Amino acid sequence: MLIIKTKNYNKLSKIACEIIIKEILKKPNINIGFATGSTPLGLYKKLVSAYKKKKVDFSKIASFNLDEYYPIKKSNKKSYYYYMFKNLFNHINIKKSNINLLNGETKNPDKECRDYENKIKKNPIDIQILGVGVNGHIGFNEPGSDFNSLTRLVELADFKEKALTVGIKTIMKSKKIILLASGKNKKSAIRCLIKGNINKKCPVSILRRHKNLVVIADREMFD
Ligand code: GLP
Repeated sequence: MLIIKTKNYNKLSKIACEIIIKEILKKPNINIGFATGSTPLGLYKKLVSAYKKKKVDFSKIASFNLDEYYPIKKSNKKSYYYYMFKNLFNHINIKKSNINLLNGETKNPDKECRDYENKIKKNPIDIQILGVGVNGHIGFNEPGSDFNSLTRLVELADFKEKALTVGIKTIMKSKKIILLASGKNKKSAIRCLIKGNINKKCPVSILRRHKNLVVIADREMFD
């Protein structure tokens, strides 16, 4: 595990952006797993700005998003579909046919998840961007999720909503993982990743077993 402690959120986003650009330059047809939430927003802004300055070309990359609410319309502003287009895809030259997102509008969520899992199997993720929930969740794999879980329909911790999420086993198969964490409320999740027991109660803890994990986090998290 490589831990990069950053001065602030801007620096965190900058370092993550540099890593992603370097990986795309190395492998233009790279498969990138994208995450949502507030944490990667700075990274996405910087990727858009690098694209506008012609420092990076997304024409050959493929994207696989981590999760989506279910059921939800793509046009719903809360959907991760809406989020990804608004914050990244609308502003870069990724091919629409190379964009993969779990479909929150499907009538058959089990089939949707099976097909998505198979697609990832055929197109392994080279680099997975991850955030982490305050309770240690990754994607929508809430505490208690099986470490062998695949892409599936889940109930969220608040029991009020459901979601489709790539599984923990699927995430662990990514060749490289970049986990971003910012803000004091993520301190306990990061502590559990770095030195807690590897336990289903804290899903992020399993990442410690990954061979190529980069954690980029505010340095205040380690005080
Ligand atoms: C959501 C997403 C996760 C994300 C997490 C943290 O639950 N499903 O993929 O990592 O929130 O979000 P934030 O970065 O806003 O703290």
